[in-house]
Parts: sequence; structure tokens; C-alpha cells
Amino acid sequence: MAEQRPIIIDTDPGQDDAVALLLALASEELDVLGITTVAGNVPLELTTRNALMITELAERSDVPVFAGCDRPTVRPLITAEYVHGKTGIDGSNLPDPTVGAASGHAVDFLVETVMSRDQTTICALGPLTNIATALDREPAIAQRIDQLILMGGGFFEGGNVTPAAEFNIYVDPQAAASIFASGIPLVMLPLDVTHKALTSDDRIDAFKELDSRTGRAIAGMLEFFERYDMERYGTGGAPLHDPCVIAYLLAPELFDGRTCYVEIETTSELTMGMTVVDWWGLTDREPNCLVIHQIDDNRFYSLLTDRIGRLP
Ligand code: RIB
Ligand code: CA
Repeated sequence: MAEQRPIIIDTDPGQDDAVALLLALASEELDVLGITTVAGNVPLELTTRNALMITELAERSDVPVFAGCDRPTVRPLITAEYVHGKTGIDGSNLPDPTVGAASGHAVDFLVETVMSRDQTTICALGPLTNIATALDREPAIAQRIDQLILMGGGFFEGGNVTPAAEFNIYVDPQAAASIFASGIPLVMLPLDVTHKALTSDDRIDAFKELDSRTGRAIAGMLEFFERYDMERYGTGGAPLHDPCVIAYLLAPELFDGRTCYVEIETTSELTMGMTVVDWWGLTDREPNCLVIHQIDDNRFYSLLTDRIGRLP
């Protein structure tokens, strides 16, 4: 087997986070060093509980889960139970976790793990609070993160929390601003690409047809998760945001993008958390991010179903 790629997943499960975690845990190309949880879709206690339930579902409790920041760096926490339900993974119908979170704070785990290795990839699926806090505590991690691949932002597609801002960035815009100014090699998967990866009855049925515990849990989660976007936007399904991050790692050929300069709005309340993407190179600013805007959605869902089929 080719050498595994060492990654840390920072996450706020969330049904779409849960599917991303399962995709990573099912993929032997990846060495998931740890999962760090952050407050976002639901409060930290629940995002941590949900991550533990997901590693147990995949029979991967060997991967430690570290609880992180329970609020953004500056602004008050906002959550998204209106999308994800009270638990954050409504529809999963999973038992309570029997394994607890690893001892120690997620930020300490991030700093210690990244500083102990030459290079580590970070996959960010929620607000960037933990990662920005780790960077503030130990700036040298910036030289040891080979890529930070994040789901967040939007440009031609606008926002999903305000007209200008996407949830992960909006919850902690100061953290995002710090990351985008850090020099860490960034890959951003914004709403512009995730909105092209919609769930559908056929795509959810493919998980049911796996006839597995994990397939049934994913189908239940996605049937709950998609109702908000279908009602709100009148779409035929919901964008499967976070699994796009892991799929990019596994099969970058399914995606296309452009290297751009990106900056985060942290002053105006009207556009707070906006990812201002210089898509047309109109500034003289050095590009700092690969912005993904295309996906082969059929091959994405085939990859997803194939890998989830490897889980119990
Ligand atoms: O805007 C979508 C993002 O916000 C996804 O990561 C979803 O899980 C929520 O965290
Ligand atoms: Ca998320």
C-alpha cells in the first residue's frame, strides 16, 4: 500500500461532517491522526459526542477525539439546529457513545501533533476557531502544515447565513481572517462547489442499498439534513458540503479551481464573514488560496458510496 497521508480533521458534526468523517475513516490512503471538535452546528458537548458516535459506528475508536473551543475567538457562538436538528446528527438513530473523548484540549493536540511531525494535512469542516487558536499559540505550525483544506466561504453563490457569508466563516470570521493571512497553503471548497453536489433520492437510496449499519445511518441523516435546503431553496436535494473536503484529498481530479487572493471581512456587520475572492485578479495581492468551484458530482457520489460500502 502506498504511504498513508497523515491528516487531522477539525469538525462540528453535523450530518455532513459525519459523512465526511466516515469517508475518511473508510479510506486507507489516509492516516487520521485525530479528530478535533469545535462548537459550530451545535454546541461543543454535542459535536464531541457526535464525533465519538461516528468513530464508533465505523469501528474506528482507535482514532482519538479531542474536544476543542466551545466558542468563537471574538464573537458569540451561533449554532444551526434549524438545519441539523437538536442533536446535530438527527436522523442517525445511533446509540450513545461508549468511549469518551481523549484527555487534553484539541488545540494542544493540534500544536503538539503538528510540531512533532515534518508535515501534516489539516481538514477543516467547521468554524476555524481551534486552528486559529493553535496558530496563535504556536505560529511555527504554519510551516509544518502542508495543506489546510477547508469547507467554507462563497463568492458567486453568496452566503447561507447572511447574503454575504457562509456559516463556517461567519461563526468565527476573526479566526478565518487569521488563517487566510497565515501563509499556510490553503484549499477552499466554498458553497460554489458544494452547491453542485446535491443529495437526491437515488443517491440516498444507494446508501440504503449497502444494507449496512453505516449505510442506514447515513441515509437517515441525509433524509433529515436535506429537508432544510429543499424547503429554503426549492432544490431537489441538499449540498453535501463537508465530504467534498475529504473527496478532494482522495480524488483531486474530480475538482477544478483557481488560485486566488482571498480576504475575510471582519469589520462591516453587513458583510461580516464574507470571503472576498479576487477571482479576476483585480488586485495586486499575492494569491493565497486554491478556490475550488467545479466538481464531477456523479463520480463524487460513486466514490462516497464505494468507500462507505467498506464500513460495517
Ligand atoms: O455552510 C456549511 C457548513 O456549515 C458545513 O460545514 C456544515 O456542516 C456547517 O458546519
Ligand atoms: Ca461542518
